Amino acid sequence: MKTTASTAAFCLLGALFLLSLPTTLPCDAWDCDCVFKHQRSCCCVYNKLGRLSVDTFHSLDYISDSLSQLQEDIVSLTGEHYAFKASIGQPSYRCFGPFTRNVPVPYNNVTLNDGRAYNPALGIFTARFDGIYSFTFTTYSNLIAPGMRQYVQLQLMKNGEPVVGVWEDNREDSEDSSTQELLLPLERGDQVYIELVAGRYLCGDLKYNVFSGFLLYPN
Ligand SMILES: *[C@@H]1O[C@H](CO)[C@@H](O)[C@H](O)[C@H]1NC(C)=O
Repeated sequence: MKTTASTAAFCLLGALFLLSLPTTLPCDAWDCDCVFKHQRSCCCVYNKLGRLSVDTFHSLDYISDSLSQLQEDIVSLTGEHYAFKASIGQPSYRCFGPFTRNVPVPYNNVTLNDGRAYNPALGIFTARFDGIYSFTFTTYSNLIAPGMRQYVQLQLMKNGEPVVGVWEDNREDSEDSSTQELLLPLERGDQVYIELVAGRYLCGDLKYNVFSGFLLYPN
């Protein structure tokens, strides 16, 4: 309504201006032809205003889309945290392994599982967001009988492929421990777990075997 009113005012001024100066027609901003024909949208400025309002509409539309996207991002960043920590919860065995094939390590004593992305039954972490993740695992093995040797090999798997590993293969120590930490880019749905390599074993205080991880930041 405002636009129509100001357009009408412009047209009226334009018409008066033209009447007062009948010999020179300063037509730069005015559509003189339609002024003479008494058309309703007689001013060029009317078209300009029309274009401006269309442009403004598109800009507002874009801003509104950007705001709702931003809101979604903020909710996903502040509303959810992904962090877990689990250890081997000392079931009936005193040694885990050896097995004839590679086996996921069941870190089933979960003391942290924010975001519920870690599945303790399978020992698998599943990424819910594309992002950079941090993982740490510590292995500990203490020989429980004389004459045994350390024979450990664990590897961190991403979608079934080994990424990093730790191993120990000697007769000198009766107990050994090592830790591996890494930053890993993951896409939504990627799965990470720790695997005991075939023929190897962990013995003794299995509770010192810990697997933990968290989303450092989403992409
Ligand atoms: C699980 O881990 C916690 C923290 O390390 C420990 O206090 C608890 O005894 C463990 N539970 C089992 C069943 O191993």
